[in-house]
Amino acid sequence: MSLHIGAASGDISDIVLLPGDPLRAEWIATTYLENPVRYSAIRNMLGFTGSYRGRRVSVQGTGMGQPSLAIYAHELLAEFGVRTVVRVGSCGGMQEYTRIHDLIVATSASTDSAMNLLRFEGLDFAPTADFALLRSFVDAAESAGLRHHVGQIFSTDSFYLDRPELRDRLAGYGVLAVEMETAALYTLAAKFGARALSVNTVSDSLVSGEELPPEDREHGFTQMVQLTLDTVAA
Ligand code: ADE
Repeated sequence: MSLHIGAASGDISDIVLLPGDPLRAEWIATTYLENPVRYSAIRNMLGFTGSYRGRRVSVQGTGMGQPSLAIYAHELLAEFGVRTVVRVGSCGGMQEYTRIHDLIVATSASTDSAMNLLRFEGLDFAPTADFALLRSFVDAAESAGLRHHVGQIFSTDSFYLDRPELRDRLAGYGVLAVEMETAALYTLAAKFGARALSVNTVSDSLVSGEELPPEDREHGFTQMVQLTLDTVAA
């Protein structure tokens, strides 16, 4: 058992899907996994292990933002021997062509967080996806005919920004979408020599102002989770 994850050693698979919302973790486990067993409910940040096509897979909620995700990702990687972590989240589209329901596959993540500036004493680390995992997921998305975009995203610490013009400048440099977790996930995977990927459904557009009501988000999320499970269990 680690400080924030109430599981015994061996309760968690070496492959873990990471939705931000713990109730999404429960939904993924009960919808897609055979014989799902809840291994942790500390702070209601639910985690489950079951099997998908004969492969043991776990799903762990992370909460919102990099400090929260970093707690769960660190403990999974440092204390439970996890080797593959995939964020399955939502994001805000920052380009006209990154539309509601589209899938964003993050090659890398810029951030306004100070976490890596502190970690690397001011050096600008480039948090990057695992290429093989990314290629497998993109191949699956192409075969399934899903609208998807592959490129850089922005992991912000502030959902409600005081200076949206900075985010707009990033859009001018080709950044596809904004979310709040991926830079920390890619950094921690690099630290522990693990594989990481972040895939996100566009739930709102910063260009058009459109947003999906929570009850309409499920469809895009369903396809993304299915593709992710197919990729990690292959
Ligand atoms: N996640 C989903 N939409 C977002 C947005 N607009 N900003 C930050 N994180 C998000």
